[in-house]
Amino acid sequence: MNAIFEREAGRKYTNEEVDEEKIQKLIDAFQASPCAMHQTDVMELSIITKPELLKKIEDSTDNSCYNAPLIFMINTKKDSPFGERDASVAVENVMVEAADLGLGSVYVMGGVFALNKFPELQKELGMNEGYETTVLVPIGYPADKEQVEDRSNRYKVVRK
Ligand SMILES: Cc1cc2nc3c(=O)[nH]c(=O)nc-3n(C[C@H](O)[C@H](O)[C@H](O)COP(=O)(O)O)c2cc1C
Repeated sequence: MNAIFEREAGRKYTNEEVDEEKIQKLIDAFQASPCAMHQTDVMELSIITKPELLKKIEDSTDNSCYNAPLIFMINTKKDSPFGERDASVAVENVMVEAADLGLGSVYVMGGVFALNKFPELQKELGMNEGYETTVLVPIGYPADKEQVEDRSNRYKVVRK
């Protein structure tokens, strides 16, 4: 079983908390992600599990994180050309690791536009001055396991 192919967007989670050992493996996957020009200060991660903070995120973002019990909030330096790229490769690492651990997750871009309008909340969530939220990743035990769609021809591929 290859986790790359097991990963799919998961938007329904049980209330079960993700255990510390698994959270650490997700952090390790985040830390192992590529880093443009080795600029390690472009990206930061806030890990949210406190129910009152999870609720504040959901309330501020029109429930963009689907009431997940764990949110990885990826913040990047404002105006860095690498921010979205670094964040995206890191998110894929985290989501593939999540799939390998039997967890559901999804790349959430929609909620970041809303969240970036709440700087006080972002500060409370650990974000530094000069950064913005680039991706949110809700993570949890899947409430239902959907059939993975056939993605073998999703994109046009040219080979010459
Ligand atoms: C850049 C990007 C932004 C996305 N934003 C959202 C989002 O805001 N909310 C959401 O539920 N899913 C979001 N997704 C997940 C996609 O909807 C999902 O990956 C796509 O439907 C393909 O399904 P799959 O991941 O199961 O292959 C986003 C994915 C990407 C790559």
